[in-house]
Amino acid sequence: MRIGTLKLKNPIFSAPMAGISDLPYRLIMKRHGAAMVFTEMISANGLFFNGKATRILLQSRQEEQPLAVQLFGDDPVRMAEAAKSVAEGADLIDLNLGCPVRKVTRSGAGSALLCAPAKVAGIISAVRKATGKPLTIKFRSGWDCDSVNFMEIARIAVEEGVDALTLHPRTRTQMFGGQAEWQQIRALKESLTVPVIGSGDLFDAGRIKTMFAQTGCDAVMVGRGGYGNPWIIGQALDLLAGRVPREPTTKDRFITAREHLELCLEIFGPRKTLGQMRKHLCWYVRGMDNATGFRAEINQARTISEMSRRLEDFFAHAA
Ligand SMILES: Cc1cc2nc3c(=O)[nH]c(=O)nc-3n(C[C@H](O)[C@H](O)[C@H](O)COP(=O)(O)O)c2cc1C
Repeated sequence: MRIGTLKLKNPIFSAPMAGISDLPYRLIMKRHGAAMVFTEMISANGLFFNGKATRILLQSRQEEQPLAVQLFGDDPVRMAEAAKSVAEGADLIDLNLGCPVRKVTRSGAGSALLCAPAKVAGIISAVRKATGKPLTIKFRSGWDCDSVNFMEIARIAVEEGVDALTLHPRTRTQMFGGQAEWQQIRALKESLTVPVIGSGDLFDAGRIKTMFAQTGCDAVMVGRGGYGNPWIIGQALDLLAGRVPREPTTKDRFITAREHLELCLEIFGPRKTLGQMRKHLCWYVRGMDNATGFRAEINQARTISEMSRRLEDFFAHAA
C-alpha cells in the first residue's frame, strides 16, 4: 500500500503509544514485521522549547524506517514549525487529534480539537504548507456520544491535504472503555478515497484479519495487542496470506524479551531501563506458568544484572 509518496511493504503498523512506543519498542516491532512504526505523540511546544525529554522521544535509528513522527499541539504556527523541525528524520508526519488525557485536552490539543473543526483546518493547512512529507491524522470518533463528528473532521482533513487517516473509533469520553465501533471505520472507508487506517481492539491476529474484512480498511495499527507480543504482526500477515500462523515458543519469548532489554539498555542506560522494562518483561511472560511470581520478582529487581538474572532464571525453568 501507499500513503502519499511512501510505499509500505505491508498494511500493518505499530501504533503511537505514549510511554510505550519508544525506540527499543519500535525496533522490536519493526524486526517482527511492522511496515511502519509510530513515535509516541511529541509536543509541538516541547520541540519549540527544545526540551530534553522531547529530544529523547525523537531518538531514532535508520533500521526502524519508515518512521512516522506524531505531533500534538493546538497552534497552527507552532505545529507547522514542529513539522519542519522533525521532517528530516521522519518519513511521515502524523497529527494527534485523539489523545483523551486531560492534561492534553485542557490545552486545546489531542481530542479537544474534535470540538474545533475550524482549528483542525488551520492546523492541517499550516502543516501541509510547511512540509512535503506524507501527512496523516489520527483521531477519535468525536468528543462524546452527542458529538460524533469523525466524518466532518475527515472531510476537512482531506480538503486540507492529508494523505491518509487513522480512526480509533471511540469518543473521548469513552477513553478506552467499551468496544471500538469498527463500523465507523467502514463508514469512513466508504466515503473517502484516501487510505483509511483502522485502530482499536486489535488484540490478536484473528481480530486484525476481521477488521480488514469488516471495514475494508487499507491498513491497521496494532496498539495494546503488541504488548509483549510482537509476533502478532507476523501471525496476522500469515492469516491474511492464507498461511497457518505460528505461536511463539518459550525460546522465542526469551530471545525477544532479552533483545528488548538489551536495546533499552543500549539506548537509555540502566536507570531508565529498570523502570521501562519492568512492564515489558511482565508482558512477555503473560500466560506462562508462574508469571505472577515472576512479576513480583522483576518489580523487586534493583539493578540491571538482577533483572537479567531473574529473566534468565525464569526462562531456564519454564516449560
Ligand atoms: C498507553 C497508551 C498510550 C497511547 N498513546 C497514544 C499516542 O501517543 N498517540 C496516539 O495517537 N494514540 C495513542 N494511544 C492510542 C493507540 O494508538 C490506539 O489507537 C488505541 O490504543 C486503540 O488501539 P488498541 O485497542 O489496539 O490498543 C495510546 C494508547 C495507549 C494504550
